[in-house]
Amino acid sequence: MDLFYTLVFTVFPYLCLTTFVVGHSYRYVTDRYGWNTRSSEFLEKDQLFYGSVLFHGGILFTLAGHAAGLLVPQHLFDLVGINSDAHLSIAYWSGLVVGIAAFVGSLLLLWRRLNNDRVKAAGTVNDLVTISGLVIVVAMGLYNVVFGHFNVLDTVAPWIRGIVTFSPDSDLMRTVPLSYKLHILSALALLAFSPFSRLVHIWSAPVFYFFRRQILFRRKPELTRKMVDTRS
Ligand code: HEM
Repeated sequence: MDLFYTLVFTVFPYLCLTTFVVGHSYRYVTDRYGWNTRSSEFLEKDQLFYGSVLFHGGILFTLAGHAAGLLVPQHLFDLVGINSDAHLSIAYWSGLVVGIAAFVGSLLLLWRRLNNDRVKAAGTVNDLVTISGLVIVVAMGLYNVVFGHFNVLDTVAPWIRGIVTFSPDSDLMRTVPLSYKLHILSALALLAFSPFSRLVHIWSAPVFYFFRRQILFRRKPELTRKMVDTRS
């Protein structure tokens, strides 16, 4: 049993995270032209708008919530007056809102991929695997929010901090319910798969777009006049 827990909650996470880091770095260096969202907006706009906005809004806040809620130790929250009850209550209500948004959005994106002829014709098996994977991980996360009510602050949170600080303790996962374990393991598997999919675009959020110099598309009037003169 000890060996089983070590394999599943220490070896498997490190295999997934290593594939995640090495895979993204390798792909970034070797496949710069394939490093994009592979957007299908020019094939179909309307369904994509609702699916994509709901999904992206939900998943980005979900990821931020996971990072803040699990990686920051409870004693630091206590310092700013957020005790564990308040922490769990914030996690529940915010998780419910952003989880529903991400779940409905991912279902709309999957439905569009399966039912729109143009998107289907241009899509790949990899696209379907990616979006189905997201639906499964998000659905299990949302299931845990609604039905789980398990205190992760003394179990999952220190376990994941142990993984990222290279002091893993798989024993912490023993009392965790199966639905939480499946959510965590499927999310890790999706992280390992992401370098081989369109999910690489997550690292290329266009934040510098807002600070770049403006591009002037209008020609200078004298230059336009000279060009017209030379042509006539
Ligand atoms: C970092 C911020 C992000 C930006 C700027 C971004 C941007 C985009 C853009 C421009 C597209 C193509 C058009 C569209 O679907 O709207 C796209 C598609 C997609 N993104 Fe993101 N994204 C981000 C984060 C994420 C995250 C965190 C995930 C999942 C973990 C994700 C999953 C997807 C998927 C699955 C698609 C394909 C949707 C489809 O065509 O069916 N994105 N993203």
